[in-house]
Amino acid sequence: MSRSKGRSYGAIAMALHWTIAALFFGQILLGFSMERVRSMALQFDLIQWHKSFGFLILALAAVRLCWHLAVRGPRPAGGMTALERRAATFAQAALLAMTLVVPLAGWALASTSTLNIPSFAFNLVLIPHLPLAPSAQAEAFWRETHELLAYATLLLAAGHAAAALRHHFLLRDDVLGRMLPGLPGADEPGARAARPIRRTIDNA
Ligand code: HEM
Ligand code: HEM
Repeated sequence: MSRSKGRSYGAIAMALHWTIAALFFGQILLGFSMERVRSMALQFDLIQWHKSFGFLILALAAVRLCWHLAVRGPRPAGGMTALERRAATFAQAALLAMTLVVPLAGWALASTSTLNIPSFAFNLVLIPHLPLAPSAQAEAFWRETHELLAYATLLLAAGHAAAALRHHFLLRDDVLGRMLPGLPGADEPGARAARPIRRTIDNA
């Protein structure tokens, strides 16, 4: 297994991260709104789009998992306590897993639905149902599981994003730059110190 060169994520890891993040937030918004529209026809169309984008997230998350197994990310950012580092690693691993588990639970919901509506990804490819027996009980179970995990992941992602912004704006270190092209990352000559400025002053 190789590791990303330098201390920033590579272009492929960054592209996957931001594409999946944008799709994930959009998918939550779509899922929330489609449940609350009055028109049944519109709701049906929105659910088909929701399933299509969900399959896309699942595919991209599977690519990201393979990429992670082949190319490890950069070494953990400096300037964090052991507890902060453990919390960040746990949150990232959980987010990685949830971008697979949430769409899989959605797929199980669509597969166990007694309405037996086929899933066409973007009106192009028929995605077969998972081999699960349709029943009202199974459908209710997967609906609860899918919704609960989706909103729990949203909370985790919000905490993760807030932590990245705290690093950038309050601690003023290069954690966000490791993942965001254009910001000074750890590899660039003008990069800000990985150690938070405040701690450097405290230790002086
Ligand atoms: C990361 C991907 C996904 C996220 C974040 C997500 C999120 C959500 C959310 C927030 C809701 C609405 C919950 C509510 O307020 O009632 C929802 C509902 C739903 N999702 Fe997903 N979803 C994803 C993937 C999928 C996939 C891949 C499928 C199916 C192939 C799917 C099928 C559904 C269905 C059928 C509903 C409506 C449930 C009902 O009838 O009440 N979702 N999803
Ligand atoms: C505005 C929102 C977000 C910001 C600002 C953000 C920021 C970051 C940063 C700075 C890192 C690198 C941390 C480091 O190791 O130094 C990172 C990694 C990561 N983030 Fe986010 N993130 C956001 C949204 C999300 C969302 C929505 C997800 C998943 C649902 C996610 C999943 C991950 C994962 C799995 C990693 C580990 C590296 C990878 O596999 O891509 N992030 N994020």
